[in-house]
Amino acid sequence: MKKTVLLLPGDGIGPEIVDEAEKVLEWLHRYCGVELVLERGLIGGAAYDATGTPLPDETLTLARRADAILLGAVGGPKWEPLDYAVRPERGLLGIRKQLDLYCNLRPAKVFPQLVDASTLKPDIVSGIDIMVVRELTADIYFGEPRGVTVLADGRQRGVNTLTYTSDEIERVARSAFEVARRRRRQVCSVDKANVLEATELWRNVVTQIQQQHYPDIQLSHMYVDNAAMQLIRAPKQFDVILTTNMFGDILSDEASMLTGSIGMLPSASLGQHHALYEPIHGSAPDIAGRGLANPLATILSVAMMFRYSLDRPDIADRIERAVNRVLDQGLRTADIAQAGLHKIGTVAMGDAVVAELE
Ligand code: IPM
Ligand code: MG
Repeated sequence: MKKTVLLLPGDGIGPEIVDEAEKVLEWLHRYCGVELVLERGLIGGAAYDATGTPLPDETLTLARRADAILLGAVGGPKWEPLDYAVRPERGLLGIRKQLDLYCNLRPAKVFPQLVDASTLKPDIVSGIDIMVVRELTADIYFGEPRGVTVLADGRQRGVNTLTYTSDEIERVARSAFEVARRRRRQVCSVDKANVLEATELWRNVVTQIQQQHYPDIQLSHMYVDNAAMQLIRAPKQFDVILTTNMFGDILSDEASMLTGSIGMLPSASLGQHHALYEPIHGSAPDIAGRGLANPLATILSVAMMFRYSLDRPDIADRIERAVNRVLDQGLRTADIAQAGLHKIGTVAMGDAVVAELE
């Protein structure tokens, strides 16, 4: 069956890494019997420059029609002086909200070939296999009221609002428990229930859903400060980490660095009707356009796309195997370079993966 994939390269290194993922998609189209229609759209700073908004209506229309979306990255210093309402990041937040992509899966898995790239000791990190399930459409990211106002006495007051409704918590909790069923059946829910009422509600709803519908899952709770510490101290204790939008933003960056290389990690943002895949690293403006960026996180995001949206786990496995073989050959982009191994650029890395797909 024909599947439409929308490519949203975005800013910084986004276009370079999406080009490499596109090569993989084209190869699969040609040789694997998956009929893919690839479309392209604008998002982020690139969209702002072309149309005056970081999320043009046309992009949303294409996104709603697509079977899956692959995004590169958004943002960069060029757009930092802009008003918040039209910053590139708003394009990303907007598409998450508009498509109701509430469940963000961020795996942090260590490639055995890269154990030494971590700043932590090899015995602490080898074998790590964590899935962070981050809620993605609520919390302080979207709560009202928000903004900065001037008080009567001339002082300024900044406000953001942390909100969660029980249904918003319930649906992402269900997703996390479902994910855990296909893994080691352990979910650690992370909150700040000792201080924040909204996350006390989080804890209560998560507990209730587990008791009513997922008695086979082992559920534990952790305060976010402790979780940040435990991730460094003993990361192998975690299977699935379920958490709020803001805490998930922070903890997923931390979890990614355990693996030594943020340049290797894919992600999926899933809703009831739509799905968006993207590398978890950002737009890396410092190396943009220089052919240095690591395309593997984007290529691995394509693997997640085949697993979660296109119903071809066999192709997902095939892509992941190809990436593993390329690492076995000692090929490395600068971010994961090691002495004695062969350092290559973005395009050569993409080509190497395509060669190993055969
Ligand atoms: C992420 C990013 C985004 C976020 C930014 C770019 C808006 O940090 O996907 O983790 O905060 O969610
Ligand atoms: Mg982040």
